Amino acid sequence: MDFPMFHLDWLNDRFLIAAVAIIHVMINHGLAVGFIPYVTWLEFKGVQRAGKDQIVDWHWDELIHNKMKVGFIITTTIGAMTGVGIWFTVALVSPSSIGSLIRVFYWAWFTEWLVFVTEVVLISIYYLTWTSANRSLRSKLKHIRFGAFLSIASWITMVIIVSILSFMMDPGNWNTHKSLFNGFTNPIYIPQLFFRTPVAMLMGGVFGMLLTTLFTKKESILRSQVIKLGGKWVLGWTPFALAGAIYYWNAMPEAMKANMSTAVGSMDFAQYYDVLKYVIIGATVLSILLAGWAIWKPQRLNVGVVIVPCLFIFGFLGIFERVREFVRKPYVIGGYMYSNLLREEDYPLYKKDGILKHATYTSVHEITSENMVEAGQNVFMLTCSRCHTSNGINSVVNVFEKMYGRGKPLDEESMTAYIPNMHQGRTFMPPFPGNKKELEALVAYIKHLQETGESLSGAQTDGIVVNPMQNSEQSTKMYADTLSVSRR
Ligand code: HEC
Repeated sequence: MDFPMFHLDWLNDRFLIAAVAIIHVMINHGLAVGFIPYVTWLEFKGVQRAGKDQIVDWHWDELIHNKMKVGFIITTTIGAMTGVGIWFTVALVSPSSIGSLIRVFYWAWFTEWLVFVTEVVLISIYYLTWTSANRSLRSKLKHIRFGAFLSIASWITMVIIVSILSFMMDPGNWNTHKSLFNGFTNPIYIPQLFFRTPVAMLMGGVFGMLLTTLFTKKESILRSQVIKLGGKWVLGWTPFALAGAIYYWNAMPEAMKANMSTAVGSMDFAQYYDVLKYVIIGATVLSILLAGWAIWKPQRLNVGVVIVPCLFIFGFLGIFERVREFVRKPYVIGGYMYSNLLREEDYPLYKKDGILKHATYTSVHEITSENMVEAGQNVFMLTCSRCHTSNGINSVVNVFEKMYGRGKPLDEESMTAYIPNMHQGRTFMPPFPGNKKELEALVAYIKHLQETGESLSGAQTDGIVVNPMQNSEQSTKMYADTLSVSRR
């Protein structure tokens, strides 16, 4: 609407965000927030285990250092790039929602940047000074303290970001009193943080255990001892993860029910409950099994065994993120902005005037019988393209054909009847915002897509056309009209 529309037709824009974000969350939770305290703890254990006249148990220390090397390389490369990459992709695909979030969370964003830079600097120092810190006990203990600071910095990045994520699900009383404080203290925030923190610790521990099996010889005593401690770490965090999951599970539907009972229908609730329930039960059972095995039979644990829970727990997090993103629909910011980037409170205006008139970027602002298809393309771009493609993943032709029959010519009348009501049957979709003419144009475009197999390209390839209605003269006139209407 107010920004050029980037669009990837084959992949689907939602997919692009999901791919980058899920990789990032896995690395952030598993290899930063959870892994660094785990490594720091083991580094400390190495000092405790030191023999007489030793600073640390050298074999032990070398192993932990090698494990940290993996964490360091992955977090500072793929981790950092996908972290920045999230902001690139969401700003391209969903610029209006990011705009709104920046307005609310300006200071949080600013702080996040500082904490993020601090985290990268600290992690570099922590890893790169490992060997030189082994000169004396004093510098080793200082190094361990450094690891603790780094752990806290990593966690604080999560503390800030989770508030934005949970805000998007349910802004709580921010929708009535708009302030950073109300945005930050949204109802799902604390439960989600309580859930994510121990889950990250579990992931860090399980990933660490995997590295131990990779970096040590079978049957070696060192391996058994490190794995045993890993098992204790996992077992120790499991009850917290379970408690956090239950807390989150109970808090979220309540809050969502209060604000979105009509928007998120019962069907989606049922799905959400089920998926989350299996995630929680599965992850808990697996964690306990793995921890038990690691503590009582550490010498029997090998790569083949550890890789299974490791893949599961990382996979679970992926599912969890997907579900979290989906359950929020049709909103991108609960009760405020729909996933098509249009604000709920602007809908009456769009219904009356049509959306094309108010769009900054559109090649058609007035629909005639000659420009129906082109107008429809603009309407599609503005109202459907954040979730549908023309002929890629979740293509609009495909979803209509699924309803009306594969390969059968699409019937304009049925589509015209369906679209204005689509949000009632399928509550994850926002209501259609346009007026009657725009609906007809959209239907003509979808039919045209079926007939031609044409592919919609975004602003990145097609460039932009600024709506001639969007200039200061027109805006002044529109404003004057609105004023005179409201005075009357
Ligand atoms: C917030 C994202 C979103 C937006 C915006 C959106 N849709 Fe959908 N739509 C979906 C999803 C998700 C599905 C389910 C696809 C599936 O799983 O098969 C869907 C399904 C559909 C279906 C099939 C429904 C059924 O009962 O099988 C139709 C038709 C459809 N969309 C049309 C549209 C049109 C037309 C627009 C624009 C006016 C639109 N959608 C906007 C997300 C969206």
